[in-house]
Amino acid sequence: MKRFARLTTISALLFAASLPTGAAHAQLAPSAAAPTQASDPSEARKANIVIIGTGGTIAGAGAAATNTAAYQSAVVPVDKIIASVPEISKVANVKGEQVFQIGSESFNNERLLKLGKRVSELLKQPDVDGIVITHGTDTIEETAYFLNLTLKSDKPVVVVGSMRPGTALGADGALNLYDAVLVASSPESKGKGTLVVLNDEIHTGRDVTKSNTFKVETFRSPFGPLGYVVEGRTLFFRLPARPHTMQTEWDIDKLNKLPEVAVVYAYGNVNPASVDAAVKDGAKAIVYAATGNGSVGDYMVEPLKAARAKGVQIVRASRTGSGAVIRNAEQPDDKYDWLVTDDQLPQKARILMALALTKTNDSKELQKILWKY
Ligand code: DGL
Repeated sequence: MKRFARLTTISALLFAASLPTGAAHAQLAPSAAAPTQASDPSEARKANIVIIGTGGTIAGAGAAATNTAAYQSAVVPVDKIIASVPEISKVANVKGEQVFQIGSESFNNERLLKLGKRVSELLKQPDVDGIVITHGTDTIEETAYFLNLTLKSDKPVVVVGSMRPGTALGADGALNLYDAVLVASSPESKGKGTLVVLNDEIHTGRDVTKSNTFKVETFRSPFGPLGYVVEGRTLFFRLPARPHTMQTEWDIDKLNKLPEVAVVYAYGNVNPASVDAAVKDGAKAIVYAATGNGSVGDYMVEPLKAARAKGVQIVRASRTGSGAVIRNAEQPDDKYDWLVTDDQLPQKARILMALALTKTNDSKELQKILWKY
């Protein structure tokens, strides 16, 4: 614990020292209320937001302020993160809850379900107006899509992370967290599904993906963000186009296990044994992250057909990063009884396919679900 305490002290000092002169004092003492709902004289009108901590870089700490990409992730407790941004208390009544302290690369089905069930429990509480989830950026997109499909509430749920630890020069976590609380507190955010807020942008959990290993502007959606958050204001310019939360057929409270769905990544010389291994592991479906418009190499067609013959669903996806895979274009899907994603990335198609398999194993019904969400 001593080492941790020293690390925290160093981190806190580094964090305070890294701020421009003068701002450090402002950072340590609540700054003047910005012209937002914070100037609202009535405390009762501030939203009650629960901030769930799960780890990631936003909970990270580096040895030096110049460590923007080399640091320890998931070491700062959520209450310390909240305390490091005193401006938050001007715009909302918040309380922290630590559900995990992990890098988000360590999320799995079990942890997704545990997080989702806790969020659902909190959303049912009448005194909770919204939820912010601090989360590693690596798999924010999967968690946000999963919650977008399974939460049964129209209250705002915002997933937030950062690309630099709070100890770094140009740390982005404090503003991201402040903005996430603003978005979760905004009546405008109700009924828009699970949102992801970073770098002044508001994205839908359905479309957003991490597109760069270290840059703060890493999150992008193929059709752009839904809106911005800036100077305390939440600005929406678009709405999510696909069903989410209250409009879907899944309820997190009724989910206790997710069917095993594997992702096999295609590349020149991909080994057919990767398909066999997924089948042996008990996969109920294989999302094949194929090249281009879901093209399958001639030496991979038979292994995938053999997996289908064993009852494993085959979903043609694309490794390109955007665009919809067209059914019966590159492969005779009707003939092979294969499926295609819409424009979901392979890692998101896995989430949707796992949920779809909790409802049906009928190919036609599964294809409708892949095209609907
Ligand atoms: N370990 C990575 C994660 O938790 C760090 C990346 C980040 O949070 O920005 O996703």
